[in-house]
Amino acid sequence: MTLQGKVRAAFKAAFGAPPAFIVRAPGRVNLIGEHTDYNDGFVFPMAIDRAAWIALRPRNDKRVLALSLDMDDRREYKLDDLRRPRQNQWIDYLIGVAWALQERGYTLRGWEGVVAGDVPIGSGLSSSAALELAAARAFHAVSGFQWDAAAIALACQAAENNWLGVNCGIMDQMISAAGVKERALLIDCRSLETDSAPLPPGTAVVILDTDTRRGLVDSAYNERRAQCEAAARHFGVSALRDIDLPTFERRASELDSLTRSRARHVITENARTLRARDAMDAGDADSLGQLMIESHISLRDDFAVSSPALDAIVDCANADGACYGARMTGAGFGGCAVALVDAAEAAGFVERVTACYTAATGIQPALYITRASAGAEMVHP
Ligand code: GLA
Repeated sequence: MTLQGKVRAAFKAAFGAPPAFIVRAPGRVNLIGEHTDYNDGFVFPMAIDRAAWIALRPRNDKRVLALSLDMDDRREYKLDDLRRPRQNQWIDYLIGVAWALQERGYTLRGWEGVVAGDVPIGSGLSSSAALELAAARAFHAVSGFQWDAAAIALACQAAENNWLGVNCGIMDQMISAAGVKERALLIDCRSLETDSAPLPPGTAVVILDTDTRRGLVDSAYNERRAQCEAAARHFGVSALRDIDLPTFERRASELDSLTRSRARHVITENARTLRARDAMDAGDADSLGQLMIESHISLRDDFAVSSPALDAIVDCANADGACYGARMTGAGFGGCAVALVDAAEAAGFVERVTACYTAATGIQPALYITRASAGAEMVHP
């Protein structure tokens, strides 16, 4: 059964009637533009065909009552009495989104519903953003406020930053809010303007999950952000987005070597992301793949956010004849890589890279051929 069918059936079993609404919001994979979002730069992700789903109906009071099929858990809370999270529970995402929307002046109505998802948790494919945007879509369905993808993404980011305490940029929420079916989305993380482009003809995107996670991601992430901010301060700009490559090269020696490497990654990555746009427009898979390869090297050597497992899977992918280019994706230190491959060869690529990575590391990876899906939406119940 599809997840849509599952949440519908579970809703009927729990509440005795079919749901009034079903909403979904996708996870994401970033093709290029890594660690650029919090530098006001450019990112180029796509929403994937894995998502968080909620089947629901409105309530006439200020209560939210939710059942999680994945967690086998039932929680409720009151919109006029929100409690700060104590531990990272799934319901905290639903509470945090309500908090952020109310903080911004949205009037929310209560609802009851069933939640389920198939974005793997903690693998760097933005299962939390998917849950946040699905919650926002649920509130939108019952409360009837205007859906402005950028405004809602900012509210969900605020939920993540200030309610859950995770210091992320805007990419994950923005792509989950504004993804476009069959297209990748170039996002200007300063203006939040978006522009979509199809993948080069005859190519497919494969997600390569190394099945490794590192606990220190948060502290390393915050450290990278601080280093980027220090570099921007040194150059007298509000964000590294404002420094172009010639200016950087002229003044790079003013920075200490660590800050210089971090800034070089961000500045070259922004340039690569804009060039990726040109490659996509031209349908040029070779150039796009080459930019992805360069992105990985920069993330590994200058930004130092790769890991032995990510390097191993990227090397296996790049050595394969069907691959145009592969790189780590997301925050790094474990999690997933992404590859652009020849669509006709995708199944063989998955088999060969699985064998190569397992031989190199002894770990069984999970590889998925994925398609670009639409962003958060209401679907027919
Ligand atoms: C995580 C964050 C994003 C972004 C990426 C790195 O996924 O949530 O905001 O910073 O890392 O590109």
